[in-house]
Amino acid sequence: MENTKKIGIFNNKGGVAKTTSVINLAYSFQKKDKNVLVVDCDTQENCFSFFMTSRNASPILPTDYEKISHTTWERYKDLAEKEIENFDYILFDLPPTISDEVRQIIRNFDVIYVPTILGEFEIAGLKRVTDEINKQGVKLGGVFVTMYQAHNDSEIIEEFRKILQERLMKTVIPYSKTVRESQKEGLPIEAYFREKNVPQNKNSWKIVNAYEELANEIIGGCK
Ligand SMILES: Nc1ncnc2c1ncn2[C@@H]1O[C@H](COP(=O)(O)OP(=O)(O)OP(=O)(O)O)[C@@H](O)[C@H]1O
Ligand SMILES: [Mg+2]
Repeated sequence: MENTKKIGIFNNKGGVAKTTSVINLAYSFQKKDKNVLVVDCDTQENCFSFFMTSRNASPILPTDYEKISHTTWERYKDLAEKEIENFDYILFDLPPTISDEVRQIIRNFDVIYVPTILGEFEIAGLKRVTDEINKQGVKLGGVFVTMYQAHNDSEIIEEFRKILQERLMKTVIPYSKTVRESQKEGLPIEAYFREKNVPQNKNSWKIVNAYEELANEIIGGCK
């Protein structure tokens, strides 16, 4: 499909929720009836293990979600175009590093989104990531804040918005301890909330709604 969008979630800083974002965006996309392929490019294989139902040699593997398939970069890179053309979105989870291999991988993407937390070092490191994305000739879809905690971050985010301007996405992903709980159960956050029958009030579902909003912002940006 000419319309298959290849979306990278990338930041060379570790632990800024790249993998968490890929998992939960994949879930949001499939809810919108989109076919999604998740490609784990990180040798840590967090994402690959998360979606794994049965390990076998086929290049594209099923997950517990009908419209989400998954694979690793090693398997993906040998796929023929026709094997990926039925996917609406291909989501790539990347390792926390900038290497020649990573440069080569990201050059394949249509667009890259950069998650960050609002720590000093993460903010200071952002220019290096965005410069690298530009250097590889890939579109920067935007930067989004993850693990946002209003009591710590509300002033910093205002400063941050002044610096990044329109490159900072509208969606902010809040900190929520349920992220870890859901990952422990091997479920995307919304699937976990549904399984636990968490009442759908605005506060408890804030994190789910935020990932939904992020998916909408990305879909809008990909058009
Ligand atoms: N919104 C959130 N609220 C609370 N904890 C979160 C949130 N998002 C992610 N986490 C936790 O933060 C940790 C890092 O997340 P994750 O593994 O997704 O980051 P990463 O950028 O992929 O890391 P790496 O650079 O090692 O690949 C995990 O323990 C995850 O459960
Ligand atoms: Mg990761």
